[in-house]
Amino acid sequence: MPGFGLDPERSLQMWLFLIIFLVLLLCSRWVKYLYHSYQLGQIMAQKRFSNQTVIVTGAGEGIGYEVARQFCQEGAAALLNDILPERARAAAESISAETGAPCVAAAGDVADIDFVRGLVDRAVDTFGGLSVCVCNAGLTSWGDFFEYQPADFERVVGVNLRGSYFLAQAAARQFRRQGNGGRIVLMSSVTGHRAVPYLSAYGMTKAALEMLARNLVLELSGHGITINCVAPGAVLTPRNLSDDPDYEERWANLIPVGQAIQSEDIANAVLFLASPAASKITGQAIVVDGGWTSTSPIPDMDYGKDYRNRP
Ligand SMILES: NC(=O)c1ccc[n+]([C@@H]2O[C@H](COP(=O)([O-])OP(=O)(O)OC[C@H]3O[C@@H](n4cnc5c(N)ncnc54)[C@H](O)[C@@H]3O)[C@@H](O)[C@H]2O)c1
Repeated sequence: MPGFGLDPERSLQMWLFLIIFLVLLLCSRWVKYLYHSYQLGQIMAQKRFSNQTVIVTGAGEGIGYEVARQFCQEGAAALLNDILPERARAAAESISAETGAPCVAAAGDVADIDFVRGLVDRAVDTFGGLSVCVCNAGLTSWGDFFEYQPADFERVVGVNLRGSYFLAQAAARQFRRQGNGGRIVLMSSVTGHRAVPYLSAYGMTKAALEMLARNLVLELSGHGITINCVAPGAVLTPRNLSDDPDYEERWANLIPVGQAIQSEDIANAVLFLASPAASKITGQAIVVDGGWTSTSPIPDMDYGKDYRNRP
């Protein structure tokens, strides 16, 4: 064994010192490695909406279902509303089974002011607070302007505007009480930006929601509450596909990106607006339409078909 030109005792000490030094070096690397793994674990466990509670209306199927599903995947607890009790229950069960998140079904009509106020109370009673409110439920009401009936007008305004307005109000009151801000997302539509045949009343309600968001910036910002809209283009939802089996192809040919929009695309925008990354965005509308509003070609379809009174 080389002795560094030292006597055997000194040389042994030197070797011992070297070995201890190498062991310590290795240990420190291991400690560092373990520490970084721990940190990574912490980051992975800390999902974007951990410990948050979200209300999503019209969440039994379509866009609302996907919004609720993504929130739950990202750690939130959800109160899922739908006008159809069986649909609400099935959606809550399936999202909870898939994500492990607490999901509660709340069946009822968002056009009913007492009901939407009760939704906020229910979220607070069940989960202890509210973080995000997504006013998604909406009624697509087709009709020739010359023939359009007051009852249809009252219904579409009741669901799309009254429902969203008073749910946003109830959520904002709760956020003000909690004192640490909150997020409201309203579901608009490209028909609030561009004219589409026989959607005069519906398009009017969607444009109004966007003005509501712009206006409420004045009253909500001081409480740390943001309010924004997402305006979907043509989305591949079960309703659209059952109304028109050629929906996907029809719209893919008209949308610049060459594809109809998926519910996931809309949910991505909603979650972004509810996330910390969007804390300075308020009073805005994000259009998710694959570029359709740039040119807005209208599909050739049967506008005379009676799509009213759904679901
Ligand atoms: N699907 C699209 O292409 C599209 C495009 C632009 C905007 N939007 C808007 O996005 C939102 C969701 O659209 P969607 O197509 O997923 O909806 P949808 O018509 O498929 O309905 C989704 C769910 O809402 C429920 N619902 C209907 N009326 C309700 C009410 N009064 N109260 C509570 N629940 C009710 C239905 O039972 C259904 O399960 C709506 O506001 C709609 O106007 C949709």
